[in-house]
Amino acid sequence: MSSPALSVRRSAGGSGRGDGGGNGTNVGEGRFVTRAVSRAYDHSVPLSLAAVADEAADCPRCRLAESRTQVVFGMGSPTADLMFIGEGPGAEEDRQGLPFVGRSGQLLDRLMLEEMGLTREHCYIANVVKCRPPGNRDPLPDEITACRPWLEAQLERIAPRVIVTLGNFSSKLLLETKVGITKLRGRSYEWRPGVHLVPTLHPAAVLRGGGGPMAQVRADLVRAKLLLTQGANAC
Ligand code: URA
Repeated sequence: MSSPALSVRRSAGGSGRGDGGGNGTNVGEGRFVTRAVSRAYDHSVPLSLAAVADEAADCPRCRLAESRTQVVFGMGSPTADLMFIGEGPGAEEDRQGLPFVGRSGQLLDRLMLEEMGLTREHCYIANVVKCRPPGNRDPLPDEITACRPWLEAQLERIAPRVIVTLGNFSSKLLLETKVGITKLRGRSYEWRPGVHLVPTLHPAAVLRGGGGPMAQVRADLVRAKLLLTQGANAC
């Protein structure tokens, strides 16, 4: 799915993969140029990831815009083969403008390194909703719907080969199911042709649940790593 609003303007930040994007990448001075140029010209070519991030920065699509400190678009490599998708920013993410920088994120970093040998720079991390739900409540269905074009734009541009969905919200959304994460996890799914999705528990559930959930997430990350290195025949 490509939102018309996201696909008509070209920026000075480049096009397609490879030019950064999001608050976690070095958009730098180009950020200003990107905005100025994208407002001035209409080239009918897809926006780069950096330009999409720039557009999202003042997103008014849902009520979360009123309470957020800033949009937490995503971070990591815009050409990553691996993408993690969480639920929504918490207080620390809202403050820093980066995804998974609180306790859940520290655990995610640790498990990613221990089970996959990877760091954040090797992947891209995003959320279903880009703005913090007040009081860390669950995102509401209309907020998820309103925010979905941003996620689709990220998926389209990054074009990961493997997606790890963290928890119920991203797993159910991408797999278009009402089945819960505890039933979904433990296997991979071909999400779109050649793109494999590995649903796993949210790191916050591991922080609450301890050893059992931790072992499950570890196993799921190993599955994702095998898909990355050996392809679909691995799992
Ligand atoms: N939980 C999420 O789902 N996303 C974050 O960015 C942080 C915590």
